[in-house]
Amino acid sequence: MLMPCALNLIHSILKVGSSRIARFFYEYMGGSFVRLAVLNDKVIGKKLEMPIFSSEGTTILSKGSVLTEKIIARLRQMGVGTVYINDENYEEVLIQEILDTSFRLKTIKILKQLFEQVKKKKDLDPYVVKEIVTGILDNMAVSENSIISFNNIGSNGMDICNHSLNVTILSTLLGISRGYNYSQLSDLGVGALLHDIGKLIADDKFHPEEGFKFLREYRELSATSNICAYSHHENVDGTGYPRKIKGDQIYDYAKIVSLCNEYDLLHSSGSLLPHEVLERISAEVGKKFDADFYNDFIKVIYCYPNGLPVRLSSGQEGVVVMQNKSFPQRPVVKVKDAGITNYINLMEKLNLFIEAVTI
Ligand SMILES: [Fe+2]
Repeated sequence: MLMPCALNLIHSILKVGSSRIARFFYEYMGGSFVRLAVLNDKVIGKKLEMPIFSSEGTTILSKGSVLTEKIIARLRQMGVGTVYINDENYEEVLIQEILDTSFRLKTIKILKQLFEQVKKKKDLDPYVVKEIVTGILDNMAVSENSIISFNNIGSNGMDICNHSLNVTILSTLLGISRGYNYSQLSDLGVGALLHDIGKLIADDKFHPEEGFKFLREYRELSATSNICAYSHHENVDGTGYPRKIKGDQIYDYAKIVSLCNEYDLLHSSGSLLPHEVLERISAEVGKKFDADFYNDFIKVIYCYPNGLPVRLSSGQEGVVVMQNKSFPQRPVVKVKDAGITNYINLMEKLNLFIEAVTI
């Protein structure tokens, strides 16, 4: 695994277009033989490149495990839709998790205890909430090549701890791209982490207002955080709930959480790839979601993740190996033409584009 600084170095070399030097660094420092694959019969016999954990934090399959028909069926049942596998036909892909797996699992464990207490005793420890968010902010590897490991956790689609953590990571990423300072990021992070807290104490359909009422009792939490619980199901066209407010009546942090909530729910279903999730969300811009926030969102969510097999408009087939910051639709693609390897940086070849995902 490469350190973020090495990734950035390689990335900046590629950005200035010195492809030969970039290739040298890239091959010398090396990624691994990784590609993203849909979990179906085609991956029988392949080895896992990233471990898979249960939502409880225990290892279900470790790195190097061989995928069998039975294992694939079980993982699909758990809501896992894609996996990173070892495939020697696809060389050198940079994969870095945005939150280190052991840190993520540790955080999930604390979050589980916290939410358990809310559920059983209707009691929340705001200091633990703040500690979790500070831990996330301080440990996130914010590089364009980082991926959020949505799919290496089998959670049967809906698990409030993993969902809340994913929404927090996505929301703070969006906050960073909008230039928020640490205290704003912290308030946004707390709001995102607790946005669905109402589900632990009330009926699902009343969770926004019940969550808000519950959080309001804690003076340690800011009003801007609490509003995320209240307003994350409001739509910019006024068709949401509970208050049917619209446009600028919806607070910015709640608009962010609303977008990230939808992204994680669609992604965790296990049946859609990142670019398909973004297509679904883009169809709702101006109705459910704010256009301004969506435009920033697509700059931080890389819709063609590293390791994804794609076909370019030139007909060449290859695999995404590296991202270009703020241009998620124009990554670096490694192709093989008559046995010769080529790196095509779509930021340099502006006449080319990704025509299809061939996963
Ligand atoms: Fe919700």
